[in-house]
Amino acid sequence: MKSVLTIRGLNLEIRQNGRQSTVLRKINLDIRRGQVHGLVGESGAGKSLLGKAVLGILPSSSSISRGSIHFGSDELTGLDRNRRRLLASRYIAMIPQDPMTSLNPVRRVGRQMCDVLRLHKGLRRKAAQEQAVQLLNNVQIRDPLRVIRQYPFELSGGMRQRVLIAMAFSCEPDLIIADEPTTALDVTVQRQILRLIKQLQTESGTALLFITHDLGVVAKICDFVSVITEGRIVEQQAIEKLFKEPQHSYTRTLLATTSEYYQYDYRMSDAARFPPPETA
Ligand SMILES: Nc1ncnc2c1ncn2[C@@H]1O[C@H](COP(=O)(O)OP(=O)(O)O)[C@@H](O)[C@H]1O
Ligand SMILES: [Mg+2]
Repeated sequence: MKSVLTIRGLNLEIRQNGRQSTVLRKINLDIRRGQVHGLVGESGAGKSLLGKAVLGILPSSSSISRGSIHFGSDELTGLDRNRRRLLASRYIAMIPQDPMTSLNPVRRVGRQMCDVLRLHKGLRRKAAQEQAVQLLNNVQIRDPLRVIRQYPFELSGGMRQRVLIAMAFSCEPDLIIADEPTTALDVTVQRQILRLIKQLQTESGTALLFITHDLGVVAKICDFVSVITEGRIVEQQAIEKLFKEPQHSYTRTLLATTSEYYQYDYRMSDAARFPPPETA
C-alpha cells in the first residue's frame, strides 16, 4: 500500500546553552494509508520532536541537518515556509497531549470549530455551525448545541480532548499525529478516548502516527510500531511480532514494564479491546 509519510535518514540538532546536540539520528519511518503507526519510547527519547518535524513546528533552536520527509509528492524539509504551513495545516492534523493549551481559552468552542471549518473547507457560517454540531455528535458529546456555546474551561479534560479529536478529523486530513493524546486523562476517560480515536480512524481510513510512552496503549490501537530510544529508532515491527518476538533489548525492557493485561490486547478484536463504556 502507498506510503502517506516517508522519512529517510533524518537527523535533528538542537542548540542549548551554546552546545549543539543531535536529538534524532538516522530516522527512517513509513506510514501507510489507513495505518495506525505507534511511536513508543521513554520520556526524552525524541518522540515529540519527530512529530513536530513532520508538522513543521520545530523550536527555533533546532534544525534538520540531514535527511528527508516526504509527504505525498512533497519533500517537506525543502519547501518554503508558506507552502509548508499550508500543507501541514490542511492535510496533517494534530491531537495534542494537553487539550487545554490547544484550545483558545477566550473563544467559544463552536467559534473555534467554525474557524477551522470555514478556513479549510470554505464553509459559510451557517453550514460551519451545522457541521460543528454534527462533529460533536460524532465524538459522542451529549448536548452539542450547549457545548458549542461554552468556553474550553467549562468542559472536562475528556470533553476538551473530544472537541480536539473532532477538529482533527473534521478536515479529512491524510495524516493525524496524536502526541500522547490520553496521557493527561484519567484511566477510564483514556479508554473512552482511545476507543473514539480508533473508531474514527477506522471509519475515515486516515493514517495515524500515535506517539506514546505506553506499550499498553500501543497494544490497544496500533498496527505497526517504531520503538525509539535516545533519538534512534531501534526496532520496527508489526504489532503481533513486536509483542511475540521483540528483537531489541530496549523493547524487551519496555515490555517487561507493561502489565500482562494490556500486552494481550493486540490479539483481540476491536469489540473485545473496547468494551462498551461502564457508564453511558
Ligand atoms: N525546545 C527545546 N530546546 C532544547 N531541547 C529540547 C527542546 N525540546 C526538546 N528538547 C530535548 O530533546 C529531547 C527530546 O525531546 P522530546 O521530543 O520532547 O521527547 P519525548 O517527546 O520523547 O519525551 C529531550 O532531551 C529534550 O530535553
Ligand atoms: Mg513528548
